[in-house]
Amino acid sequence: MEARGLTRIYSRGNEEIRALDGVSLTIRRGEFVSFMGPSGSGKTTLVNLLGCLENPSTGELELAGKKIFGTGQALGERALTRIRREMFGYIFQNFYLIPTLTVRENVALPLAFYRKPRVEGEADRLLQMLGMGHRMNHLPGQISGGEMQRVAIARALVNCPEILLADEPTGNLDTKRSGEIGEILRNLNRNAGLTIVMVTHNPDLARLGGRLIEMRDGKAFEG
Ligand SMILES: Nc1ncnc2c1ncn2[C@@H]1O[C@H](COP(=O)(O)OP(=O)(O)O)[C@@H](O)[C@H]1O
Ligand SMILES: [Mg+2]
Repeated sequence: MEARGLTRIYSRGNEEIRALDGVSLTIRRGEFVSFMGPSGSGKTTLVNLLGCLENPSTGELELAGKKIFGTGQALGERALTRIRREMFGYIFQNFYLIPTLTVRENVALPLAFYRKPRVEGEADRLLQMLGMGHRMNHLPGQISGGEMQRVAIARALVNCPEILLADEPTGNLDTKRSGEIGEILRNLNRNAGLTIVMVTHNPDLARLGGRLIEMRDGKAFEG
């Protein structure tokens, strides 16, 4: 994907906040890119734009050679929804599991919701792969934080995305669990060729990727 001059301005009262200030970067298929930077530096805003979850104020975004945002873009909300579900998996600091559904049901939910041809057993396969085979019928409230993030990863993968976006995926986990999640992400990148775009405050985690980008005041610095 290619971002050119991505800028996002929020207004708060009559104050303008330049959350993102002209970020240009290219992320190639199969890369594992980490973003670090102080709180408020625009990391979440950037990954949300890269993941087509928000629109930029100005600037362009191209995905697999297709213009998503920018001059002359004609993508409506339907097309955006389709791109989100077919190209991306998302994981977040707070997991966002549905508390009344079992682990298995949480993971299978996107299959039903998006009406993709249901791949029988895909949720189970992913949960097994992530070491959660013995927890499939548990509710989220009955498992640990590290386990919840594994479930969220399985859910993010169930639609076979090309790109995984992870916004502080270990922000709520201790060092040991963070390391385990990091290991899972690295294996998904290395073995399954998944492109990973991750925000983290954890330097050990950031080093797992081949590429580190620093955010400061809405700008991206590399190398
Ligand atoms: N919805 C919003 N409305 C107003 N300001 C926002 C909104 N989202 C983010 N901001 C502001 O944009 C800046 C960047 O935020 P964010 O991208 O969340 O940074 P980070 O993820 O690096 O902590 C901050 O100053 C934040 O307060
Ligand atoms: Mg953030």
